Amino acid sequence: MTSELSPIDKAKFVSAKRAAQFVESGMRVGLGTGSTAAWLVRCLGEMVRDNGLRIKGVPTSTRTATLAREVGIEVVSLDEAKWLDITIDGADEFDGQLNLIKGGGGALLQEKIVATASDQMIVIADVGKEVETLGAFPLPVEVIPFGWQTTQALVEETLVSMDVLGRDSTLRMNGEVPFITDEGNHIIDLHVKRIGNARQLALVLNQMPGVVENGLFIDICDRVVVGYGDGKVEVRDISEGTIATERLDFVESDNLFADLTD
Ligand code: 5RP
Repeated sequence: MTSELSPIDKAKFVSAKRAAQFVESGMRVGLGTGSTAAWLVRCLGEMVRDNGLRIKGVPTSTRTATLAREVGIEVVSLDEAKWLDITIDGADEFDGQLNLIKGGGGALLQEKIVATASDQMIVIADVGKEVETLGAFPLPVEVIPFGWQTTQALVEETLVSMDVLGRDSTLRMNGEVPFITDEGNHIIDLHVKRIGNARQLALVLNQMPGVVENGLFIDICDRVVVGYGDGKVEVRDISEGTIATERLDFVESDNLFADLTD
């Protein structure tokens, strides 16, 4: 029930609910991964059930695929959909240019492929994700398991010549064992603290052997729907600035709020 939600969860919920209004029948929709994206999937599921919304959803992780099917969204692969009308996903950080750090949930590779294959990408986030400069959130880098320690050392060495404040890195763990992505890779989190030139860092990282993808999303996001704990939402557009502020009511619905695990 919404009355039991924390202010952050309320903020995530209202941003997802507002963003769901951008989805129209007939659209092919990229479905993000994470707790905010899970709210979106539930909102869309409700619209499919109650309002006759017809969409094809392309999930960005096995977790999202499972949830989407559970709530009644038709799930197709990216290759079946070929191109998407819209992708809606969460983020770990966004800045004033709507550049992002993503990958806190370990799904950055599929998320970047899907977002890039979309006419528009909308990020849904609570206001706590907004930063002046990217980098306080550890930057996830997906690497293949072969030689991952060598790749990690090379990445750290490369950071010396980058405009960053820190160059420690850690292998992401899942309890006692390394975290494995949906593609069977590992994630190295870079504790760079502050990224002075995100575009340069993203390009350099992706040129390194062993690196599959990094969590910097540069010039990919078109809009951010920012949620606040009191129900306020702002829609910020890359070209127009803040284009709308409104307040959403929390409508309690057993279907939407029960058993949210992501
Ligand atoms: C997953 C992601 C998520 O979108 C990001 O971690 C935000 O997650 P949440 O909505 O749970 O705060 O990039 O790879």
